[in-house]
Amino acid sequence: MLSPTPRYLFCALLLCLPLAVFFTITSPTTTFTNYHQNPIVARNNHVSQAIRNLIPSPPPSQTQTQTLHPGDDGSLLRLASQVNPKPSSPKKVAFLFLTTTPLPLAPLWELYFNQAQRHLFNIYVHADPRYMYNPPFSGAFADRVFRSEPAQRFTPSLSSAARRLLAHALLDDKANSMFALISPSCIPLRSFNFTYRFLTKSQKSFVEILKNERGAYGRWAARGSTAMLPEVKFREFRIGSQFWVLTRKHAKLVVSDRRIYAKFNQTCLRRDACFPEENYFPTLIHMRDPRGSVSATLTHVNWNWSGRSSGHPRMYKASEVGPELIASLRNSRLRYGDDGSESNSSVREKSHPFLFARKFSPDCIQPLLRIANHTLLKD
Ligand SMILES: *[C@@H]1O[C@H](CO)[C@@H](O)[C@H](O)[C@H]1NC(C)=O
Ligand SMILES: *[C@@H]1O[C@H](CO)[C@@H](O)[C@H](O)[C@H]1NC(C)=O
Ligand SMILES: *[C@@H]1O[C@H](CO)[C@@H](O)[C@H](O)[C@H]1NC(C)=O
Ligand SMILES: *[C@@H]1O[C@H](CO)[C@@H](O)[C@H](O)[C@H]1NC(C)=O
Ligand SMILES: *[C@@H]1O[C@H](CO)[C@@H](O)[C@H](O)[C@H]1NC(C)=O
Repeated sequence: MLSPTPRYLFCALLLCLPLAVFFTITSPTTTFTNYHQNPIVARNNHVSQAIRNLIPSPPPSQTQTQTLHPGDDGSLLRLASQVNPKPSSPKKVAFLFLTTTPLPLAPLWELYFNQAQRHLFNIYVHADPRYMYNPPFSGAFADRVFRSEPAQRFTPSLSSAARRLLAHALLDDKANSMFALISPSCIPLRSFNFTYRFLTKSQKSFVEILKNERGAYGRWAARGSTAMLPEVKFREFRIGSQFWVLTRKHAKLVVSDRRIYAKFNQTCLRRDACFPEENYFPTLIHMRDPRGSVSATLTHVNWNWSGRSSGHPRMYKASEVGPELIASLRNSRLRYGDDGSESNSSVREKSHPFLFARKFSPDCIQPLLRIANHTLLKD
């Protein structure tokens, strides 16, 4: 006769464990384990096989039983909101590529990542599954695409995609310490080493946070004149570049936030004033932890051109790319907002460098590669 001694219970538990895992994998309801398989590939067979879910390491056991349906951001965000906000060592930089196209500048990023020690960075790709990715993501980007959803301008879907990127990166690696959002038209403006040292030394995020920008009221009221109330009053509303670098603490703050995001996630009534990805992050950081961020973006962009009324920044052409352009981008000064520690102008004097720049058209890749080793990726 076996009595239910602790030892017996322990053995029973061990015996049951493989069964439990088996049932988790085969059960028809979607569990976190199923989520590791490939819902995108299953749904859209035209999407490259490179598209698959990330999170190779198993999630923490206490959360393993939570259900996670494909497309269910709620569970993903909830899991990610439980991570340790302190990164483990050695710290890594997470590069979050948000795209709806193949990455035309990927060969330049390959050179950049080739300069790096593999254990100091991670790459994550969010790729709208409605599009073809030809050529498929390869090299450093192969297998780095996780479950993505449609993402388009003038809707909250771009900011939802950025939140999804943060959640995946938080769960994937506890050493991810800084999270940089990158677009397909972005280039690195410094060597990997320079960027790594600069970012991992910083205790703060870099989020452009601007107050009283032209058109701010229209943006705030784009969902209806009282739709943002009471959580986001107009005087708390901020505008800034979509491209930020967040600390792990702020990445966790973002994925844990439901109250403020519920406001920004509403459908806009006015499409031409609907830029949640440029409003949500600056507003959230301003409201929750302005001193934890330098109120400027590290991604250079040029609005000083004849076509600025189009609402698009200048797109550099191949003929413009050369050491002089890179030098002038590197020498530009950041634009600081009014929030955060940088409101103190004596701190502002100690200026920060631009680490990335946009926008570069796909045909810039050849001239960029020509100057990469000698100029672009050299300090
Ligand atoms: C980057 O830093 C690492 C470690 O400090 C060093 O081994 C490597 O040579 C550096 N790479 C470049 C391109 O400077
Ligand atoms: C945002 O809105 C979409 C569409 O209504 C919804 O499916 C999604 O769950 C919402 N996301 C969050 C985090 O509330
Ligand atoms: C804007 O561009 C013009 C023409 O290229 C230049 O003269 C001017 O200095 C630029 N202004 C700023 C603020 O960069
Ligand atoms: C601004 O920063 C400097 C250097 O950190 C500090 O000495 C000074 O007291 C600060 N001034 C204000 C108004 O906070
Ligand atoms: C740049 O450096 C990389 C790696 O060292 C090398 O493979 C490549 O051929 C170089 N490119 C040029 C244009 O010199």
